Amino acid sequence: MKKLLLSRPAFYTVDYEINPWMHIREKPNSALASSEWIALYKTLLSIGIEVELIEPVKGLPDMVFTANGGLVVGDKFVLSNFRHKERAGEAKYFEAWAKGAGFEVIKLPKDCIFEGEGDALFVSGGVEDQDTLIAGFRFRSDICSHNHIAGMTQKKVISLELALPNFYHLDTCFCPLSKDSAIYYPEAFDSYGKKILKSLFSDLIELSVEDALNFCANAIVSGTDIVMNKCSGLLRTTLEDRGFVLHELDLSEFIKSGGSAKCLVLKLD
Ligand code: ARG
Repeated sequence: MKKLLLSRPAFYTVDYEINPWMHIREKPNSALASSEWIALYKTLLSIGIEVELIEPVKGLPDMVFTANGGLVVGDKFVLSNFRHKERAGEAKYFEAWAKGAGFEVIKLPKDCIFEGEGDALFVSGGVEDQDTLIAGFRFRSDICSHNHIAGMTQKKVISLELALPNFYHLDTCFCPLSKDSAIYYPEAFDSYGKKILKSLFSDLIELSVEDALNFCANAIVSGTDIVMNKCSGLLRTTLEDRGFVLHELDLSEFIKSGGSAKCLVLKLD
């Protein structure tokens, strides 16, 4: 992972409740959110990631979570169809940005809900060594989006149903680390999902409930560098033992909206 899209938290707040983490009475502190976001930005630069920015829009507080704007597959940008009207307004800005950046923008049928990379993560080493897309559905994406994406991108897509409302996007409960390793929170999947993930990764690291609720699956991985919200000593050791370099951040103000490190970025290559 070398190039990511971020959006400054200029208009970020919690003005509505569309996931169990959001409470309009528990607003994030804007100054703190801003300094947490800057720390994330600087950490990404320090590990050699190139950052592109999409201009934030007043009245679209969740636009900071760029992972939900779409999914990049080569030179294609699969535009999101947001589940909730509160976020639907973001789509046209992500579309314009993607066109401006030279992507071919692909739209799904209107009634087919899809929330971008938040629910769709690539792992390498799939069938015939092509990339495989692991895609979540139920809370914020519909399974119909997976077939469309498979058809349009010629990628193998494995659909997994999400089981817990607190872990409503795939990237809140699953994170591929390498061809063989991944982090996941087992309770967020049904027995089929657990079986599939075990068959795909020989080294599947289970998160404790504490680490899962601290959004430790919501990590940004670039080679051996991992950027995530603060985690337990046990998880740190588990990752370091495997040769990963962990960059822990405090993303408290974004967790108030149900997001953390990975939700704040969208992969561009
Ligand atoms: N408040 C945002 C929402 O509910 C958080 C999005 C988190 N994004 C993610 N990729 N998990 O849409």
